[in-house]
Amino acid sequence: MLNEEIQEKLNQQVNNELYAAYIYQAMGAQFEAESLEGFASWMDLQTQEELEHARKIYDYINERGGRVELRAIAEPPKDFGTPLEAFQAALEHEEMVTGKINELVSLARKHDDYATESFLQWFVDEQVEEEDSVNAIIDKLEMIGGASSGIYILNNELGRRQ
Ligand code: FEO
Repeated sequence: MLNEEIQEKLNQQVNNELYAAYIYQAMGAQFEAESLEGFASWMDLQTQEELEHARKIYDYINERGGRVELRAIAEPPKDFGTPLEAFQAALEHEEMVTGKINELVSLARKHDDYATESFLQWFVDEQVEEEDSVNAIIDKLEMIGGASSGIYILNNELGRRQ
């Protein structure tokens, strides 16, 4: 049986992951509107990943005999500015999520909940990867400095993400 405080934080994390999906989809929608299909396709894949993250936690709560509670998902911003600003906002959100995962690990340790600690390890590793991939794109966008030829090339590159 899940400790109530852990269950509550896991439910909040389901919401954080769904909100992340919402943010990435909103960024995708903006890129679609700007005819940056490669950027939009990268965001579509990221949205799918976030939905999978939410589902993993959803399944885990159920597996442990807990109760999933779905909460309202906040409205994402309508405009994220330039591609660089959008990816900077994505990084900021990922860093927030990393912080939440770390808090959950600490909570699991506090309650000697080794199963939850072990479950969360996947998310700890995933966050390193997520921050790294967003950071790599920010580096490229900074290098490009808003030049349309560079954006065009990066758009093609991001469109190749599988
Ligand atoms: Fe599921 Fe990108 O955090």
